[in-house]
Amino acid sequence: MSVLQKTKPSNEQMAKFIGKDVLDIAQFTKEELDTICQTAAYYEEALDAKKILHDMEGKIMASLFFEPSTRTRLSFEAAMLRLGGSVITVSEAAGAQTSSAAKGETLHDAIKVIDLYCDVIVCRSPIKGSRFESSAAADIPVVNGGDGAGQHPTQALLDLYTIYKEKGSIDGLTYALIGDLKNGRTVHSLIDAVSMYDIKKVILASPQELMMPEDIVANIRAKGIEIEECHDLNYAAQNADVLYMTRIQRERFQDPETYEKVKDLFVMDNSHVKMFREGAIVLHPLPRVNEIAVEVDEYSGAAYFRQAGNGVPARMAILALVTGSVK
Ligand code: NCD
Repeated sequence: MSVLQKTKPSNEQMAKFIGKDVLDIAQFTKEELDTICQTAAYYEEALDAKKILHDMEGKIMASLFFEPSTRTRLSFEAAMLRLGGSVITVSEAAGAQTSSAAKGETLHDAIKVIDLYCDVIVCRSPIKGSRFESSAAADIPVVNGGDGAGQHPTQALLDLYTIYKEKGSIDGLTYALIGDLKNGRTVHSLIDAVSMYDIKKVILASPQELMMPEDIVANIRAKGIEIEECHDLNYAAQNADVLYMTRIQRERFQDPETYEKVKDLFVMDNSHVKMFREGAIVLHPLPRVNEIAVEVDEYSGAAYFRQAGNGVPARMAILALVTGSVK
């Protein structure tokens, strides 16, 4: 049966998620990733049919964002509201803090208290590895909405769901991850996700200064996956089925000069589109800064806005599964 069969997963499939945190992709098996995609398809069908859902009625999600976010926060909040649940929010813009983080409260203490107010917590923090601190402080499920340059598992889940929808399968494809592979948490999670499948190859294309961390590359190679590292966007454009563009993560640079040096080295435009393999798709977690020219939006395989839309059903699946609420 196809993963996108639009039927509710079995109770046995769903039982594994109840009460669990979502901290990184490596915590899941391939079957569990597929169950999340299947649940997303189930909810997407309900959304398309304009059904009013009550799966999470009476439940509260806290969204705690200690770093800027548009898509992740709003799609989680929309997901919770679409499931009939309610949302409480802390959203901290630099210099305009409203929570007690401004008074020096630790993430641990904040989560320990918020845990008493709701049923599930979605948290984004600028500190790599803070997902473990959040998880340790809470009894209820904690979902990592991005921890610094660490992991962004729910983005990788919606990316997988998008690839299933656009290409029909994760297997057999060549993936090019392009841009700031050092600091981009989305690609750290995505490479873990696709490497669980029977994929053809991963091409890592980045400026010299922004290569994928060696420990991640070694880990993927140890699974028997072929990885090619290069500094050439043309090579990636010619040889991949899925091209995953990323933004140079300016906020993670120590000195502005290095950022200026690398910021426009990888810009995809129609000259690259002409080189693509037949049926290649372009993904990007967004926001884009300058790495995909607007002209590329006209290409039928430019799937990044569709990908952003998939964030809602994918996050409905995650919230409902970890709280045992799929009806
Ligand atoms: C990404 C992130 O925050 O890591 N954005 C997102 O969640 N869609 C990518 C980025 O900011 O470059």
